[in-house]
Amino acid sequence: LPAKAADFELAKKSTLEEILKRGELRVGFEAGYMPFEMTDKQGNFIGFDIDIAKEMAKAMGVKFVPVNTAWDGIIPSLITGKFDIIMSGMTITQERNLKVNFADPYIIVGQTILLHKKHEGKVKSYKDLNDPSFIVTSKLGTTGEQAVKRLIPKATYKSFETETEAAMEVLNGKADAFVYDLPYCAVFYAQHGKDKLVFLDQPFTYEPIAWAINKGDPDFLNWLNNFLRQIKNDGRYEYYYNKWFKS
Ligand code: ARG
Repeated sequence: LPAKAADFELAKKSTLEEILKRGELRVGFEAGYMPFEMTDKQGNFIGFDIDIAKEMAKAMGVKFVPVNTAWDGIIPSLITGKFDIIMSGMTITQERNLKVNFADPYIIVGQTILLHKKHEGKVKSYKDLNDPSFIVTSKLGTTGEQAVKRLIPKATYKSFETETEAAMEVLNGKADAFVYDLPYCAVFYAQHGKDKLVFLDQPFTYEPIAWAINKGDPDFLNWLNNFLRQIKNDGRYEYYYNKWFKS
């Protein structure tokens, strides 16, 4: 029996329609990635991604629902429908892009290094860390981890569940260097670094960051890219960027 156009219409998934029907935009992220998503002392989620997510929900006329999820399982959680979108400082990688769609990038970052002060002047770039005598840390399942494995393969790599643990290991002198996205390292350095760390702030990877959604939903992708262009040009993006990156 030949399939009718209506059958395809039924099978087609429209996240936008679901969001509008539900009256809620469910946003997946993992809190702890400064300054994109953090938990404040009262337990509220705050940060650059959170503010943009609230603007997004407002533009849709629905309620913003935060869904804090472990980074390790964040893509499977999107695919199984635990939330509508990942807004979590996620780098577009070709491997991830086989499983999800990405909207246009909203910021470009790269890997940088928080180095223990005792190596000041001796370690000048990631290349100088490529020796088993150096203990290098990063976070499980991130592009930081991938960068260490790919570009500093001879270093002794130590993986951590959270950004804080991985960075603290260097602060406490138990590791030599922490490799991670520039914005996180900049905030960590400003908070704790001054007399214990050196910030090697020249990014050595190219990482466009974007919102991820399920595949096969061009309507949602179209809405997101038009929303992004709008906020990038009407002052909203700049307002939140200055709030979180310029203080
Ligand atoms: N940009 C890095 C990546 O995509 C790290 C993102 C971590 N995000 C987070 N919310 N913990 O792998």
